[in-house]
Amino acid sequence: MLKKNSYHDVEFIDLTHDALGVAKIDGVPVFVKDALKGEHAEIKITKVNKNFAFGRLIEIKTPSPFRKKPICQHFFVCGGCDIMHMNYDMQLSFKKHRVKETLRKIGHMEPIIHDTVGMNNPYYYRNKAIIPFGIEDDRLVAGLYKRRSHDIVDLRRCHIFPKIYSDIIRLLKALLVSHEISIYDEENHKGLFRALMLRHSEKNGNILLTFVVNGGKMPHKEKIIESLIERYPMISGVVLNNNSDKGNVMISNKSKTLYGEDILEDELCGLNYQYNHQSFFQVNPVQTQNLYKKALDYADLKADDYIVDAYCGVGTIGLSAAKKVKEVTGFDVIKSNIKQAKENARFNDIENAKFIQGKAESVLPSLKDQVIDTLFIDPPRKGCDKSLLKTVTTMDIKRIVYVSCNVSTFARDANFLLKSGYTVKEVTPFDMFPQTAHIETVALIEKTHLES
Ligand SMILES: C[S@@+](CC[C@H](N)C(=O)[O-])C[C@H]1O[C@@H](n2cnc3c(N)ncnc32)[C@H](O)[C@@H]1O
Repeated sequence: MLKKNSYHDVEFIDLTHDALGVAKIDGVPVFVKDALKGEHAEIKITKVNKNFAFGRLIEIKTPSPFRKKPICQHFFVCGGCDIMHMNYDMQLSFKKHRVKETLRKIGHMEPIIHDTVGMNNPYYYRNKAIIPFGIEDDRLVAGLYKRRSHDIVDLRRCHIFPKIYSDIIRLLKALLVSHEISIYDEENHKGLFRALMLRHSEKNGNILLTFVVNGGKMPHKEKIIESLIERYPMISGVVLNNNSDKGNVMISNKSKTLYGEDILEDELCGLNYQYNHQSFFQVNPVQTQNLYKKALDYADLKADDYIVDAYCGVGTIGLSAAKKVKEVTGFDVIKSNIKQAKENARFNDIENAKFIQGKAESVLPSLKDQVIDTLFIDPPRKGCDKSLLKTVTTMDIKRIVYVSCNVSTFARDANFLLKSGYTVKEVTPFDMFPQTAHIETVALIEKTHLES
């Protein structure tokens, strides 16, 4: 029987889907953060459950050749990244392996899985950050939360956001201190300044800031904004967001623009998109374009095609396809996404795309008399509602391009389609979130051709 606080020498034989090292002690799996497969190490048992345990690395005796010194000084405490201790080639192969194993175990299939498409520079890629501010030991701290906690890591430099974000955060901290702005305390719900949201346009470098405050007013805001703009003239807008709620939701829907415009403009696959501080926009535009290109490639679009973009968000996949096909219909459950998708169509002079608000599982059956040449599916992490998949099979849709941010639910849905006469032809993983264990995949699924 394993005992809490006991020490053991172990060899790591595997990695979990969230990149914990797996060792076995007397047949009991022990999960250890920041350990890599093949490594020998001394560990300390930190928690014992009925059939498994957790441990902490004490000393790595034989490091993996794939181990890399994380470039971020905060890596071992910060909740932002989880695999910065793997070299990038290993990160990519770890993700491909996870896709393969999950499709085998949950999907009961072994399709062609291509190598994970990585980034030339797997750092500084994330264009949106929400940085909570707080007080720790009488000092102002700002950064991401520590793993599984609401303690803030006082960020010096983050390596997944644009470099300039860390500099803006540092200057804002100094300005809040010098202007004696009180800082929000989550425990007693007092204090003013809660968080800073930063968004960045890849296209023109503009930056949109949102000050999230507990209350309607921010003293000295003109002086603070003036100092920020003077040092960082690429700040094109500053928004004040009043969030007095006690919950975990960071941004409320009560906002006003303090400076410039509450608008950024970016480009994806040759189309222009405008978005404001609240709108959904992909956080890694470089990889999003690569992913969309592959999705369109799988769709093998023809000028006469009618395509559907279920779970369309602000319409980006459907609009990227629109100029190549006859007609596009997109749907999304969120009203503001549909409003924005329509605006995006207008902004790009696209007239053959229409967007409908509603649940994909409710709207798709209304298209039962149409021949859909390709159905794009890009659901949230929980995957598709079973009724949507049933509709797909009854409508006899020949080609599905399934984009997924959760390989487990994708494998479940793919298995349902497999049992209903579909074949997953091939899958390409994309590294949309380098340094984290998150995986994005795009898969081509076709109605199985029966030899007569
Ligand atoms: C992963 S996002 C994909 C967005 C878009 N395809 C893109 O590439 O940016 C999933 C989208 O599904 C929407 N959604 C969630 N549940 C839905 C449902 N049952 N029916 C339709 N849309 C849904 C969400 O609002 C969100 O916009």
